[in-house]
Amino acid sequence: MASFITGGADLFHVYDVDGNKYIDFTTGWASNNVGNIHPEVLDAVIDALRKYGFLYYHPLAIELAEKLVEITPPNLTRVSMEVSGTEAAEAAVSYIITASKRPLIISFMGAYHGDSIGARMIGAHDAARKKYFEGMDGGGVIFIPYPRSYKLPPGMSQDEFARLILWYLDEFILEHIAEPDRIAGILYEPMMAEGGNFIPPKFFAKKLMEMARKYNWFVIADEVLTGFGRTGKFWAFEHYDIQPDVVVTAKGLTGGLIPIGAVILSDEVAGSERAYSGSTFAGSPAGCAAALKTIEIIYRENLLEKVTKYGEEALKYMKEWPEKYEIIVDSRGIGYFLATSIETGKGDEADIELAKRIFIEAKRFGVWTIWDDEPHIRVYPPLNMELDLLLEGLEKLEKAISKVEKDLKEGLITLPEKRQTIEFFE
Ligand SMILES: Cc1ncc(COP(=O)(O)O)c(C=O)c1O
Repeated sequence: MASFITGGADLFHVYDVDGNKYIDFTTGWASNNVGNIHPEVLDAVIDALRKYGFLYYHPLAIELAEKLVEITPPNLTRVSMEVSGTEAAEAAVSYIITASKRPLIISFMGAYHGDSIGARMIGAHDAARKKYFEGMDGGGVIFIPYPRSYKLPPGMSQDEFARLILWYLDEFILEHIAEPDRIAGILYEPMMAEGGNFIPPKFFAKKLMEMARKYNWFVIADEVLTGFGRTGKFWAFEHYDIQPDVVVTAKGLTGGLIPIGAVILSDEVAGSERAYSGSTFAGSPAGCAAALKTIEIIYRENLLEKVTKYGEEALKYMKEWPEKYEIIVDSRGIGYFLATSIETGKGDEADIELAKRIFIEAKRFGVWTIWDDEPHIRVYPPLNMELDLLLEGLEKLEKAISKVEKDLKEGLITLPEKRQTIEFFE
């Protein structure tokens, strides 16, 4: 039952290998934004395969590049095709370092940009991902905390924490670690996806942007998970008063059917010296066809408006959970970018264990959520899922939370030992 193996899917459901049906809150790990195997996307892919198979040069790449430029801010005029989000995030860094001729970037603790060695080094999702590879960090990345809203220093609000990070960057990093003109730019998830579904306060992005403009840093918005409508705007950075110099996209770009990624860049970032990125299958014909069709569907079906409206209803429902359940500390989200978090006071391992049990129980009740060895349960439905099915899935998830809390109270769950830490806030 805890299996991660699916046996098939329709637009809004997945099936396990025994044929059991689940409401799908995973959407191919936030990739199939217009539903699993959308028939129009599938047809577009098949047509492209019939016509082009795989050809390196083909007109669909040009058509998609023009479309991507059209749906991003006017300063972004160039496109580089990639195969995956990992490759696209690495490409973005490659471009800003080459264009600025500066060796350093700022990145965030908790950020996930992929699992290649390069992407693990420009991100800092968790220490386990760097284990044995610490030597490859090489010092080119300055990591600062992300303004999360979970497990903050006691008594500190998210806003205060966010301000502290900006102050730390200014006062400590720029004073003691690197002068501003040694930094090429900031690799930033406008909302942190894999790191816990966090939504920074508005002023944080604005101040970062102000610093970037002051010091001529390029800003990369990694929108691999948050882009393509997931948060109710086409790009998550649109919720903030910022204008990135590079947008990184993949996942939802192709409705999930054929993997491609892309970076959309300003002239300044792309236009000076040749930067190296890309690979043979980057921007394959079938991938570009899928992306063009996905973009068409998102706009034609007004999915952004729908996701905004239904997402509010869903969040309202999820916000009741911290009131009703002792193990739930917070629910947060925007659009169909939703999560709830577990905190017991018994340490990270205990919280992760309970989240895992909720994930497993939720499957027993008929909903498949995202859980990735984390103290959160994430809810990423397809953008075209109707409100009643979304709420039905959330009711099933709530049943799972209730069952796990009951089992915990009745002593049916043994929690892992708390990691011994030093008490700093006595
Ligand atoms: C923000 C972000 N960047 C990059 C990636 C890597 O993308 P991919 O898995 O397509 O290589 C992910 C994947 O989850 C992501 O969430």
